[in-house]
Amino acid sequence: MSPSRSRRQPPPDAAPALAPLRPGAPRAAVLGTGRYNPERVLTNAELATMVDTSDEWITTRTGMKERRIAAEHEHTSVLGANAARAALEQAGVDASEVDLIICATVTGDMVFPATACFIQELLGARKATAFDLAAACTGFIYGLEVASQLLEGGVHRYALVIGAEKIGSVTDWTDRNTCVLFGDGAGAVLLGQPREGQVAGPGVLASASGTDGSLAHILNIPVGGTRTPLTPENYGKNLHKLQMSGKEVYRQAVGNMVAACQDAMRKAGLGPGDIKLIVPHQANLRIIDGVAERLKIPTEKVFINVQRYGNTGAAAVAMALDEAHREGRFGRGDKILLVAFGAGLTWGATVIEW
Ligand code: UT7
Repeated sequence: MSPSRSRRQPPPDAAPALAPLRPGAPRAAVLGTGRYNPERVLTNAELATMVDTSDEWITTRTGMKERRIAAEHEHTSVLGANAARAALEQAGVDASEVDLIICATVTGDMVFPATACFIQELLGARKATAFDLAAACTGFIYGLEVASQLLEGGVHRYALVIGAEKIGSVTDWTDRNTCVLFGDGAGAVLLGQPREGQVAGPGVLASASGTDGSLAHILNIPVGGTRTPLTPENYGKNLHKLQMSGKEVYRQAVGNMVAACQDAMRKAGLGPGDIKLIVPHQANLRIIDGVAERLKIPTEKVFINVQRYGNTGAAAVAMALDEAHREGRFGRGDKILLVAFGAGLTWGATVIEW
């Protein structure tokens, strides 16, 4: 037995008793947010030395100027755990109190076990049930929906919802169509019931989501799964790296994101005028502008950081939410609209009252 293993506490014999829920108190309030951005910055200028591209093309087509790339030892779980720690610290909640961890990712540490299990271990969140959610860029939004329902139902008390991606590790760095678009990072929220004396809003008010599996082929990693295993024969084609028909994905993005936003707002009994800030998926500035325009939400109410981080998949909305929160872009009582779109195809929107 390794020394570290012998020091570890055995798992509890019985399921830990849940703290009694306070009648009337919100059960899925947002108690803390966090993010982690790897240090290494990859600029458009540097990409132009790697493939046939230019700062001008990337900036005008996407709005991106730079993105972060994780170090070799920074696995997806490390990124996710760092973001989760920041959320726990902000909430003043110890990892040992967390009883649910959902990690939204499509670039997990391994095929299995779930990256959430590695995060549980890194955090020391010994009593947490932990699993991954694979909905690509929409994963964090789906995760909020799942976690808030489990909390509302009294199944769990504190849930960490994490979006974490190391997309650089599945990027074909010779393909200019995709390699300029993505970056690595992680964001997290802690949902749960506020402590005595702690004031927090109700959290998730409403969600709307959708999937269209008939378009799975326009954004995927086609090789490496059970359908087409990676072999010495197909290795050189780089089909075990991310493939995207950018134009076709673009065509689907705005309409589905707008419909999801409208549906979520309708369910919450709100209109665009009630929204303090929209935090959209950061895949392309033109998509973000298109969504805001169609929803008639003015630019100053749209949070954008795509210029600094590129598209970080399931981490993008979570990272942007934390950045907006720490910048003081919204406060208690404000309604925030989150929306994402990604491979699957998947899409979803969530209205949160802070
Ligand atoms: O997060 C998941 C969801 N993903 C998205 O939402 C991404 C959606 N798609 C997009 O954001 C855009 O389609 C892209 C940014 C990927 C591409 O922009 P586009 O305006 O749709 O360009 P395009 O794919 O139609 O390419 C236009 C031209 C092509 O050249 P030709 O065929 O017109 O001669 C490309 O080969 O631009 C060329 N091109 C580039 N040129 C310089 C493609 N990539 C590059 C590049 N640098 N990096």
